Amino acid sequence: MRDPTPDELELYAAARAAAAGAYAPYSGFAVGAAMRTASGEVITGVNIENASYGLTCCAERTAMFTAVAAGERDFTAIAVHGDASSVPPCGACRQVLAEFAPELVVVYRQDGAPVSAALAELLPARFAL
Ligand code: THU
Repeated sequence: MRDPTPDELELYAAARAAAAGAYAPYSGFAVGAAMRTASGEVITGVNIENASYGLTCCAERTAMFTAVAAGERDFTAIAVHGDASSVPPCGACRQVLAEFAPELVVVYRQDGAPVSAALAELLPARFAL
């Protein structure tokens, strides 16, 4: 884990802005994510909850699935923001992110401030076929 670069802080700001579009009527916890592609594009996502709670999709997966559906396959970094002091990506999202981007940089809030970590640091033993 290390301090984010200026570029990564910019991505984090995009994630924070995206959180305004979250659909989170059950938890009231809005999350935004911003994925940077290898070509420099930024694709955002939000958490989308459901009355059947377990069907909820996290912001990180929404961002990744949106990007993949648009034809993107190469990613350099993802940022995630939620209004709590520490919001690292959940375990399910770590595995999904690793499918397309094992080398990804993940920017998230830790003890109130954004930090950057390698995805492999957050998920040392991903499942892969
Ligand atoms: N959530 C995310 O969107 N990303 C995470 O990494 C952790 C949790 C969402 C799921 C749910 O809508 C809400 O936060 C509370 O768990």
